[in-house]
Amino acid sequence: MLDRRKFILTTSLAATGAALNLRSLAAPIAAPAPSSQLPIIISTWDFGVAANQAAWKVLSTGGRALDAVEAGARVPEADPNNHSVGAAGYPDRDGHVTLDACIMDEKGNCGGVAGMEYIDHPISVARMVMEKTPHVLLVGDGATQFAVANGFTKKQLLTPDSEKAWKEWLKTSKYQPEMNIENKHFTPVPNKMPGNQYNHDTIGMLAVDAAGNISGACTTSGMAFKLHGRVGDSPIIGAGLFVDNEVGGATSTGVGEEVIRNVGSFLVVELMRQGMKPEDACREAVNRIVKKKPEIAKTIQVGFLAINKKGEYGAYALQKGFSYAVCNAQKQDLIIKGKSIY
Ligand code: GLY
Repeated sequence: MLDRRKFILTTSLAATGAALNLRSLAAPIAAPAPSSQLPIIISTWDFGVAANQAAWKVLSTGGRALDAVEAGARVPEADPNNHSVGAAGYPDRDGHVTLDACIMDEKGNCGGVAGMEYIDHPISVARMVMEKTPHVLLVGDGATQFAVANGFTKKQLLTPDSEKAWKEWLKTSKYQPEMNIENKHFTPVPNKMPGNQYNHDTIGMLAVDAAGNISGACTTSGMAFKLHGRVGDSPIIGAGLFVDNEVGGATSTGVGEEVIRNVGSFLVVELMRQGMKPEDACREAVNRIVKKKPEIAKTIQVGFLAINKKGEYGAYALQKGFSYAVCNAQKQDLIIKGKSIY
């Protein structure tokens, strides 16, 4: 029998700020709509607060959900202290920083890149794949070539911090996926809020704009010190991200292999289509992982985050410690500790 301890710690802006000494991250807000959740943006992990802030600038001025999630995802991609997303992501076991991302809009259009090197904003390349090609996914050198052909500049992405962590890892080179391994190598940065220092993984973002249209984005450097060529769930439509404008959207974080095996984000959206609330749908997707691989499920983290057409949201994770950030006219930097199975 699984222990279903409840971890939810829904905190108001004021309570969170008092407890964690948060600086105010609220962006200027357009005329609030107290009776409506919309527009709204939600993102995985505490670092979603800063991403939401950028996305809110788009949503609060009547912008499109697609533009909001792209703007938001670019924030952790550019953060030199974030070693699980974007330019400062940890490399694979051979020292290559390879990035994965995908994006999906309200019309079912989607694009992604996987295993892409030397380009620091994979989410924007993913959007270009969606908008400028007849394809959905570009990988490896092809993705890099496409990015350069479309105006991106090639850069060496391996930062001194990432290189140091990789060389430390090379001393043992024990290839065993570890839950939240990034945290063990992370050097706390002064003046960062505590959650930002320790909760590291993929960012998945879902937005519903004022017109009621839904879009999502998902971006990561993948599992730290992965096998060269390994791709997780994040750039795979249906696994790391799925949006259906009639129903809602879902995204995932954690060990991508188990998400891919269960086509996790698609599953969450389909469960919502059948009438489930976002949190219940996420919990059911987590349960599928447990059912299929009970022993593995105890040792890894996977979390799902979902939103429906009305702007109702929820999440569920295998392990405690998963958090997500919510932003709408009522709450700008709300962090919620997700419930978990274990
Ligand atoms: N969820 C990120 C990955 O497995 O690569």
